[in-house]
Amino acid sequence: MHQNDKKFQVAQNVIEMIESGTLLGVGSGSTVNIFIELLVQIKSKIDACVSSSEMTTKLLKSKGFNVIELREAGKIPLYVDGADEANAHRQLIKGGGGALTREKILADSSDKFTCIIDDSKYVKMLGKFPLPIEVISIAQSKIALEMIKLGGRPVLRENFITDNGNVILDVHDLKIEQPIDMEKKINNIPGVVTNGLFSIRPADKLLISDGNKVIDI
Ligand code: 5RP
Repeated sequence: MHQNDKKFQVAQNVIEMIESGTLLGVGSGSTVNIFIELLVQIKSKIDACVSSSEMTTKLLKSKGFNVIELREAGKIPLYVDGADEANAHRQLIKGGGGALTREKILADSSDKFTCIIDDSKYVKMLGKFPLPIEVISIAQSKIALEMIKLGGRPVLRENFITDNGNVILDVHDLKIEQPIDMEKKINNIPGVVTNGLFSIRPADKLLISDGNKVIDI
């Protein structure tokens, strides 16, 4: 099965679980874009959406969804998002699309975080996918040096500014044996806005499409 068909399959699985009157947190990326396309079929069940990026907001609004701010919503009952990598503990690497900070805020504000991926993203150890770190630009070289000390190879994402006006370092070759320690350590470096490890607040439900079925972890 093609990767896009797997994304469709796993997105459809979530659609079937959504109840009427839902206030929905919506992530970012190509899997979520497919999810949004499918969400149109059950639009009447969605009271409002809280969005994790300008791109998602634009797409949701173009489909006629009511998009509200997190401060209006307070707690989000259900947050649905994709990931770049996931392990058996439902810990994730996110930020391939650069929306990691708002995504982490939404995940942290949600009662239930459901992550949807295809099986190419399911790994034993996180870190094959370069870890995105959103940084305040004046701190970029200092943070890059810190990442080299941690065994990584940081690369500035070219021609990219986040929705929050910052830059992204993609850190290759990190051995992430203890995701929670690594997440805390990187977030403690002054100038780091956040990093793409979602391990302190992992997903509550990880749905993986392997082409035949959807596996629930
Ligand atoms: C964006 C993200 C996305 O969830 C992640 O990059 C996966 O994207 P896709 O569904 O396109 O593979 O974290 O910041």
